Amino acid sequence: MSRSVTQTQAGSSTKTHAQKRIAVLGCGKMGTILLESFLERKLIKPEEAVATVQHGDRSQELSRELGGVPVTTDNRAAVAGAGIVLLCVKPQVLGQLLDEIASALDPGTLVISIAASTTASFIQQKLGNGVPVVRAMPNTPAMVGAAMTAVCAGPAAKPEHLATAKHLFESVGRVLIVDEKHMDAITALSASGPAFVFVILESLAEAGVKVGLPREMATTLAAQTLFGSAQLALETGHHPALLKDAVTTPAGCTIEGLMELEKGGLRVTLMNAVIKTTIRARELMTS
Ligand SMILES: NC(=O)c1ccc[n+]([C@@H]2O[C@H](COP(=O)([O-])OP(=O)(O)OC[C@H]3O[C@@H](n4cnc5c(N)ncnc54)[C@H](OP(=O)(O)O)[C@@H]3O)[C@@H](O)[C@H]2O)c1
Repeated sequence: MSRSVTQTQAGSSTKTHAQKRIAVLGCGKMGTILLESFLERKLIKPEEAVATVQHGDRSQELSRELGGVPVTTDNRAAVAGAGIVLLCVKPQVLGQLLDEIASALDPGTLVISIAASTTASFIQQKLGNGVPVVRAMPNTPAMVGAAMTAVCAGPAAKPEHLATAKHLFESVGRVLIVDEKHMDAITALSASGPAFVFVILESLAEAGVKVGLPREMATTLAAQTLFGSAQLALETGHHPALLKDAVTTPAGCTIEGLMELEKGGLRVTLMNAVIKTTIRARELMTS
C-alpha cells in the first residue's frame, strides 16, 4: 500500500495494512470504478492490488484496463496476504463469498464491504469475531473524483480502521461517517441517487431540444446547471428553498415553470422514489 493510504493512520495494525495489498473481490461496475480511481489518484500501484470476478473469460482484458492489476477467479488466493479486502459483489452472493474466504484471511485484515443491504455484523459473524469490518456506500461519481460515500464501523472495527476506509474513499470524493441504521436510506438517496439525477438531466436536455436547442448544447446547459446548483448549495450551505427563491422573480418566467413542476408532482415523485428504493435496499440481501 502506498504512503498516501497510510498518512492518517497510526498504530501497528494499520501499519500492517500499509505493507500489504488491496484485494477487490467482485470487480464489476462499482469495483472497477473504485479500483481505477484509486490507481489514477496514485493511492495504490497496480502491483499493490489484485481483483477477482466470477467469470474468468474477461479477466485478461480487465487486467489490461486496470494497468496490469492481476484479475483472477480465485478469491481465497486474492485475500491471502491482503491488508484490505474490498467486497464489491452483489448482496445476494456475499454470504457464500464470505464462507469461501473466511479461513483464508490474514489476522487483522481490514474488510470493507460496499454491498447494499448486508449489515456489518452479518459480515463479521461470517468471518469471525475479531475481523475488523467497515461498511461503505459509495456512488458512481467516484469515477470523476466526486463520489458521495458513507462509511460506518462494524462491531470489531477500531477508529483506525474507520480512518483507513475514510481515507481510501476520500481519494474519490466526499465521505461521511454515519450510524449503520442510516445505510439503507443512504443506499437509496446517494448510491441509487445518480440514476435519479441522470433521468432529470436527460429530461431537462430533452426539454431543451423541444424548445429548439441543439441536443449537445442542451445537454451541456442542463448538466452544468445541475452541477453548478449542487455546488452552490454545498458551498453556501443555504437552504435549497432560499436558493430557488433567488431565481424566482415575482410574475417572472421561472414561476411558470415551478408551477408546472408542482402540477406534475415532481417533489412527491422524487420522495416516493427514495422511499421505495430504501424499502428495496432493506430486503436485497435475501431476494
Ligand atoms: N453500481 C452502483 O452504483 C453501486 C453503488 C454502491 C454500492 N454498490 C454495491 O456494489 C456491489 C456491486 O454492484 P455492481 O453494480 O458493481 O454489480 P456488478 O457490475 O454486477 O459487479 C458484481 C461483480 O461481482 C462478480 N462476482 C460475482 N460473484 C463472484 C464471486 N463468487 N467471486 C468473485 N466475484 C464475483 C461479478 O463477476 P462477473 O463479472 O464475472 O460476473 C461482477 O464482476 C453491490 O453489492 C452493490 O450493492 C453498487
